[in-house]
Amino acid sequence: MVTVHLSGKDYEVDETSDKSLMEQLRAQGAEITAACNGAGICQTCSIKVKSGDLTDKTDTEKMMDLPEGQRLSCQCKPKTDCDIELIY
Ligand code: FES
Repeated sequence: MVTVHLSGKDYEVDETSDKSLMEQLRAQGAEITAACNGAGICQTCSIKVKSGDLTDKTDTEKMMDLPEGQRLSCQCKPKTDCDIELIY
């Protein structure tokens, strides 16, 4: 398990789970908008990564040409403790 800090709270996230960071945070009550429900289309689940390492960008994320430090929380998982913030 790793700790993900978001909006003043710490969440325990299983980095070995098949579930995305977005799914795991929402399951613990984090309010993350996910208009496309994890399909990688809407970008409403976007996060800014302030510290920590995440899994490599998926092909979907690469196609979106996201700004430096921005990820789609429905497409990634943490590899280490992370500090993130929601963009939307
Ligand atoms: S939930 Fe739509 S891109 Fe992540």
